[in-house]
Amino acid sequence: GLDRSIRPSDLDQYIGQEEIKQNLKVFIRAAKERQEPLDHVLLYGPPGLGKTTLSMIIAAEMGAGIRTTSGPALERPGDLAAVLSSLEPGDVLFIDEIHRLPRHVEEILYPAMEDFCMDIVIGKDETAHSVRINLPPFTLVGATTRAGYLSPPLRDRFGVISRLQFYTPEELAMIIKRTASVLVTDIEEDACFEIARRSRGTPRIANRLLKRIRDFAQVESDGIIDQKTARNGLKRLHVDEAGLDRVDHQLLLGIIGQFHGGPVGLDTLAAAIGEERHTIEDVHEPYLLQIGFIQRTPRGRVATEQAYAHFHMERKERN
Ligand code: ADE
Repeated sequence: GLDRSIRPSDLDQYIGQEEIKQNLKVFIRAAKERQEPLDHVLLYGPPGLGKTTLSMIIAAEMGAGIRTTSGPALERPGDLAAVLSSLEPGDVLFIDEIHRLPRHVEEILYPAMEDFCMDIVIGKDETAHSVRINLPPFTLVGATTRAGYLSPPLRDRFGVISRLQFYTPEELAMIIKRTASVLVTDIEEDACFEIARRSRGTPRIANRLLKRIRDFAQVESDGIIDQKTARNGLKRLHVDEAGLDRVDHQLLLGIIGQFHGGPVGLDTLAAAIGEERHTIEDVHEPYLLQIGFIQRTPRGRVATEQAYAHFHMERKERN
């Protein structure tokens, strides 16, 4: 439509994740033909790959409404009960960071997902009794960085489990081109690829870099993003040739410099560079593993030959 936003609003505008997209098209069409809600969907994968966007698209494609919340926001059973009772038939309930749902809140979800009902306790002590409340049929879309964080009973209640993959440079270049057009910004093809190549397979990073480079182009140049503008901007944003940022550098140079290339345990490494273990595991490590800069071994993380080569260093054998 005319009011295109940075987030694609339907599956045909959504670039990449081809397998997930083709499967979802089938599941959505089948559910609509049967006039049923879509089965519950679990989306997992590193941050910034489009889990929230996909949940919004699922609701739009189903012609349904969406309610959005997150695991940490649902502290008590009553918080979830309130959200569940406010649903309209067919709605999508999106729970981000679903692995962070407290256990006693999670237990409310089981009957809600399985039988569209919830049991709530009324009264106290001798007069306490539980009342079953029916809920409208709905689709839970849960998002998490890792499926392994989910308790098995919760994971087992999802009918569709999809893992999002890092995007190729070609896909990211298409996304950058599309975003630039939504932002009414002129960008040359080789500039799209320059940013794409250095966005760590992640649309959220690609779009953020595009916006900042657009600022440089607007204020310090003629507003047009060519490859030179892109390169200069990336340099000032401390994004290196491989798209790595300061934390990636600290991580790799930490393994290389302080631990002779590893293996080093994750907790030791986290303490050495002053980062949260979970931030390293969920945000930084997946891409470094994907591009083969680190390896996970039973004894810890190892910097590979490619990581050394990136810093123009050589891995010395220890005697
Ligand atoms: N913007 C962010 N992610 C996108 C995607 N996968 N497709 C199109 N535009 C996007």
